[in-house]
Amino acid sequence: MHVIHRRAWELPEHLVTAEHVFFNRRKFMAAAAASAFLPGVAHANAVPLNPKFQDAGRPVTSEETNTNYNNFYEFGSSKRISSIAESLVTKPWSLTIDGEVEAPQTLDIDDLMKQVTLEQRIVRHRCVEAWSMVVPWTGFPLSQLVAIARPKADAKYLRLETFNNPDMAPGQKPGFFSSYPWPYVEGLTMAEAMNELAFMVTGAYGKDLPKSMGAPIRLHTPWKYGFKSIKSVVRLSFTRERPVSFWEQLGPQEYGFWANVNPDVSHPRWSQASEEVLDSGERVPTLLFNGYGEFVADLYKDMQNEPLWM
Ligand code: MTE
Repeated sequence: MHVIHRRAWELPEHLVTAEHVFFNRRKFMAAAAASAFLPGVAHANAVPLNPKFQDAGRPVTSEETNTNYNNFYEFGSSKRISSIAESLVTKPWSLTIDGEVEAPQTLDIDDLMKQVTLEQRIVRHRCVEAWSMVVPWTGFPLSQLVAIARPKADAKYLRLETFNNPDMAPGQKPGFFSSYPWPYVEGLTMAEAMNELAFMVTGAYGKDLPKSMGAPIRLHTPWKYGFKSIKSVVRLSFTRERPVSFWEQLGPQEYGFWANVNPDVSHPRWSQASEEVLDSGERVPTLLFNGYGEFVADLYKDMQNEPLWM
């Protein structure tokens, strides 16, 4: 991610990605089965694979690539932040739930995990920077967390927030990206939050979620550009007003609230017609809603005047 004054896009790091290892679904399933016998692996194969999301139509991206090619600006603008992100302290971790709810609460993640039903999903993940991956996630539908939060009828949006801790995250230290509006914030409409595609992720590749990928809990909204998929969430607020997200605040001419994937609407600085599939380096046509229109297209049918694609 980048805004107009940044030059990161001009030297895309994926051009120097050394990994070209295909990791197909069968291998993933075998690896997940094997991981069941590893101590400390909390997301082993006892977690069922949702049959609707068992094949993303492309090979699963290798774990090696995925954990070493990340956008997590709290730890810097490089894609290779995985070792820096090890300073993220994930235990203890709690989620604050507030705003338009029956009763505000703070939920310890271990307590939350006892109240949700985990599943695995293999889905496409498409960044606004025009690269994509296929990721085997473990997690639970966001709708389960909404049910636990008990929003009031006048809640129209869900605002999600990442931690803000400069001691832990060098990108949040004064002077580093001091113009950045920390903490990272994202938002969804309540209808989007209740859609079955909106997923709270707690694991990947049959293991706990790596820190570089947003441990211990992050959002994934596969029909939207990746920046909507906020990492390391600490707070969920139900609001009447539409939240202004991190990138929208930083570059409203380039990044909006909706950010639905659309090959026909270019980013102001590049085309969104195709994407580079990490690992293979192949360029493939980008699909409307990242190919998940059957789940979400109806959400937007009466919103022609909204900037749905940025
Ligand atoms: N969440 C936080 N807190 N900070 C970030 O910098 N980057 C976003 C999103 N969530 C980001 C974030 C962007 S731009 C993308 S593409 C995805 O995370 C990347 O997720 P990945 O590293 O797991 O591929």
